[in-house]
Amino acid sequence: MPDTHELLINIDLTIEKFFPKKWKEKNFSFFIGEPKFEIDSKTLNKNLNDPIRDFVLRGGKRIRPLIFLTCIDFFGLNYKNYLDFAAIIELLHNGTLVLDDIEDNAALRRGKPTCHKKFGLDTATNTGVSLHLLPLKILLSKRKTLPPAKELAIWQIIMEELINVSFGQALDIYWHKNKSADEVNLKRYLEMVRLKTGSLMRMSTRLACVIAGEGEKIQKIFKDFGESIGVAFQIIDDCLDLAPPDEKFGKSVGNDITEGKLSLPVIYALRILKNQNEFKKRERLIQILSKHTRDRKLIHEAIDLIKGSGAIRKSVKFANKLIDKTWLKLEEKLDRKNGKLDSLQELSYFLVKRNF
Ligand code: IPE
Ligand code: IPE
Ligand code: MG
Ligand code: MG
Ligand code: MG
Repeated sequence: MPDTHELLINIDLTIEKFFPKKWKEKNFSFFIGEPKFEIDSKTLNKNLNDPIRDFVLRGGKRIRPLIFLTCIDFFGLNYKNYLDFAAIIELLHNGTLVLDDIEDNAALRRGKPTCHKKFGLDTATNTGVSLHLLPLKILLSKRKTLPPAKELAIWQIIMEELINVSFGQALDIYWHKNKSADEVNLKRYLEMVRLKTGSLMRMSTRLACVIAGEGEKIQKIFKDFGESIGVAFQIIDDCLDLAPPDEKFGKSVGNDITEGKLSLPVIYALRILKNQNEFKKRERLIQILSKHTRDRKLIHEAIDLIKGSGAIRKSVKFANKLIDKTWLKLEEKLDRKNGKLDSLQELSYFLVKRNF
């Protein structure tokens, strides 16, 4: 397996192939065909290519394409032939982030102002939608290289997982907007996260299986694997929001408090405080969450209440246990294929050990 650095460079070079510094005629025609009258290429560069590049190329961990390429390598294929698929996955993920930041009213992403803060709500909404659609054109351009059954399976996976994301987001958004603290429990949270975050991880592992021509049994194993690491990843993200040890995290600390998000640490804190008969503290936490405040003092008061209950520790433990269990299950079901599982294992553990 090539090292992560090499993979990251190749992923970004592939993205830049479709979104070079300046879109020229051939780039336009790739996405929309020949112009019928006259194309305002300057504006399209300024109001579509630039915001896409600004967001996509400002960094990001590239976890999903890394998982995809690592699986491709595990199945014995040369990753270099599948970089376009890796780019498709990353671009779709970026589309979900641009829209998610609008939905969550977030100010920072990857250490810089979110797309809507920088380019306005109108351009950002269109950029987020475009990042869901333009990658599909890249997929369409791959059809000559794919047998029809494989191509259909790929479209089906992408469609299914994107639908799942929108269902997960619908739950998350409603819960943060309304004071639903007593309606949300661990099981409902896990289902929501499985949909909103598990989906793109699952898309990555499922696509690798289908491209490699793996049978149903392997597809199922890798689908479950992708989903579980996605859930663990989101739980760690929820914890890092409250206490990031590293400024590379690139999002505002406590944004989830402003959002009023019912993250796992919040769900646990509410449960623990209830069990300890700490009703005043519990009510105070719910009250701060429902304010959607940006007041740093209040945000830290809420974080202290959550931290003090032991809910962050409990959430981190849950994520770690989930990765351990997921990993054992994967090892049990697969041969270790000449140590080739090592890169996948390293990546899975990075998801929960990361501090940014
Ligand atoms: C952010 O995903 C959204 C979550 C699922 C928590 P990432 O943490 O993978 O974001 P980037 O791509 O590295 O910025
Ligand atoms: C993550 O949403 C999932 C998607 C973007 C679909 P969050 O709102 O939980 O993630 P962050 O914390 O903004 O990255
Ligand atoms: Mg968000
Ligand atoms: Mg969100
Ligand atoms: Mg988060």
